Amino acid sequence: MACFAEIGHDVISVDNDAAKIDALQRGETPIHERHLPELLQRHRNVRLQFSTSVRDAVAASEAVFICVGTPQSQTGEADLSFVEAVASEIAAAISDQKTIIEKSTVPVRTCEGLRKTLLLNGAQAGSFSVVSNPEFLREGTAVSDFLYPDRIVVGVDDEASAAVMQEIYRPLTSGSYYEGTRVVPPSACGLTKARIIVTNAKSAELIKHASNAFLAMKVSFINAVANISESVGADITQVCTGIGSDSRIGPKFLNAGIGYGGSCFPKDVQAFQAVAEQCGYDFGLLTEVMRINIGQRRRFVKKVRSALWTLRGKRLAVLGLAFKGDTDDIRESPAIEIIETLLREGSTVRVYDPAAAEKALRVLPTTGVVFAADPYEAAADSDALLILTEWPEFANLELTRIRTLLKYPIVIDGRNLYEPQQMTEAGLIYHSIGRGVGIPQDMSSVVHGSDREAMLHDSFAVSQAAGGGR
Ligand code: UDX
Repeated sequence: MACFAEIGHDVISVDNDAAKIDALQRGETPIHERHLPELLQRHRNVRLQFSTSVRDAVAASEAVFICVGTPQSQTGEADLSFVEAVASEIAAAISDQKTIIEKSTVPVRTCEGLRKTLLLNGAQAGSFSVVSNPEFLREGTAVSDFLYPDRIVVGVDDEASAAVMQEIYRPLTSGSYYEGTRVVPPSACGLTKARIIVTNAKSAELIKHASNAFLAMKVSFINAVANISESVGADITQVCTGIGSDSRIGPKFLNAGIGYGGSCFPKDVQAFQAVAEQCGYDFGLLTEVMRINIGQRRRFVKKVRSALWTLRGKRLAVLGLAFKGDTDDIRESPAIEIIETLLREGSTVRVYDPAAAEKALRVLPTTGVVFAADPYEAAADSDALLILTEWPEFANLELTRIRTLLKYPIVIDGRNLYEPQQMTEAGLIYHSIGRGVGIPQDMSSVVHGSDREAMLHDSFAVSQAAGGGR
């Protein structure tokens, strides 16, 4: 809503949560999202109004975006009851021509169901059209993803709605927004005109689920390769450079780690599989994507256990609670699940996250968890340091300080934020994903035989890459 205001539209934002609307009216941003506070500040009470009345907002608008949640139901399907509920309210308020746009992440054929619900609830046939307009923004970079999109997808079943959607996005597709003097800075791309892809409604719906499932598959694929890489003593970051430089594959979403989380991938892969099942198609590939993803968290706990021998009674510093960097969202966060397992196994944790602590406080057990004010407070007197979220600030720690603070010089990095050499030079034993263990020279006897083998392979690979060799 803030981005639509930013590109020049008058927006009324509606929620049935009056407390949320009040907070927005006061200018408070409910989520940690870069550029959002400045957009709210700029447009609040100018182009951006807030309301709890669907009826008033629909009456005053030409286009109505449905952005309600579509949580996972017990069977794995998307629960569309919020979409249905809001559609019946919208239906009652349609008096002249409206374009009703589905923006929530929904399974294919939702537009059909939406059209039916609108008619059943009193909207006159011909007084509205239904459009699918899936959203591809990521948490943390949502504003720039919206304003500088790889593509805008609109799924329409009539020409009039196509024209409405082209008009709504014209400031981006014509490039006029980018010529302004006070624009949100681009993420990187140097985009001058956004690309719009117009499809039919079902194709647009399918594009959304297939995109998320494909990205989740990419992450699981590289995690599976990382596990092989680790066994044979290769280096997954070098492997990724090699794979990702094939333009047909591309370098993005090839970071091995503790698996994907968040409010989208886990739910959407499951929902897409449910769609396939309803179509009578066994999409076993998606089952494997989910299996690898869950396995990745378990492997990480095993890695911690093997680095420390036993977990009972250990005090662990944990950096990261959010499901990824640059967000305060902990939904389906691998970090939270790993912490819960470590606690069950008898460890205690000192956790730090730049933004997600408040939300984690509500879900983590009270015993065995201490919230630290920074990474160094977490590390002080801990038996090892664990990195679970890819926050940029975790990639720039003062390593010699960490070495002095830790009881044992052990870092276990679930996000591969460091080169093993950086850690070993600081005197730290470094375990990461899909790479050999980094061991400072004076400590090689501390590490198990199999790990040491991986390390030797690793340093050989590094020196080969540097043109050296031994
Ligand atoms: C995702 C989609 O990217 C976005 O297009 C869609 O609209 C919503 O879902 P988001 O949930 O914000 O966005 O997270 P994303 O940046 O895609 O990361 C998802 C998960 O994959 C995170 O847990 C992240 O840590 C993990 N990930 C991502 C990896 O483990 N490796 C990677 O290389 C990339």
